[in-house]
Amino acid sequence: MELQTRSEYSRGQLEAVAASPMSQLQDWLADAERSELSRGPATGDFNAMCLSTVSDNGQPSARFVLLRGLNQSGLHFYTNYLSRKGHEIEANPRAAATFWWPELQRQVRVEGIIERLPAAESDEYFHSRPRDSQLASAASPQSQIVESRLQLELMVEELAVAHPAEVPRPNHWGGYCLVPHYFEFWQGRPARLHDRIAITLTDGEWLTTRLAP
Ligand SMILES: Cc1cc2nc3c(=O)[nH]c(=O)nc-3n(C[C@H](O)[C@H](O)[C@H](O)COP(=O)(O)O)c2cc1C
Repeated sequence: MELQTRSEYSRGQLEAVAASPMSQLQDWLADAERSELSRGPATGDFNAMCLSTVSDNGQPSARFVLLRGLNQSGLHFYTNYLSRKGHEIEANPRAAATFWWPELQRQVRVEGIIERLPAAESDEYFHSRPRDSQLASAASPQSQIVESRLQLELMVEELAVAHPAEVPRPNHWGGYCLVPHYFEFWQGRPARLHDRIAITLTDGEWLTTRLAP
């Protein structure tokens, strides 16, 4: 298989970023949401980020998760604490997240340390989800081998019968916050001479530098 397509990047440029990298990320997420909405019914994937974690023997692994919240302390997402990523995070909280918005020709890289969100925040988010999502995330032993699709569906059904009203949030499902110490904002430019602005937390201050593409 040959993959020889070559896109030309000419949709924008990046001269300066906001004083706070979180604000810059918020601005770019808002642009990505607008751009997604302008393409028709939202698919909701503008907030998908590739989350990279590392096992205790140094093996990196990556998967997409949805960014569910963002504030000055960090990037929030929700998952199963007993999943592969959950085990990796508990053993080694250093992680990275990457966004790619093709229609804007922008990439953002974030590196930091992951902490669990307080249980009350996880409760609030869990109970804001549709019942089907609550049941699936509570019943599914994420990342474990299952015998069949049917076994999985039976687990969900059993849980639904056990909890006809409210589904309780299991202790093993909840939120994490990626507390960042490094950001890179990347804007594609013509002829591969892209803009890259790095923002690094140095002695409590965000330091901005430009990197070669
Ligand atoms: C666009 C997209 C968004 C996803 N969002 C989440 C999420 O927010 N939380 C989650 O646990 N899994 C999410 N998943 C599934 C994960 O990619 C992954 O399959 C799952 O979390 C198990 O990963 P692990 O075995 O490395 O722990 C998403 C997948 C895609 C493609």
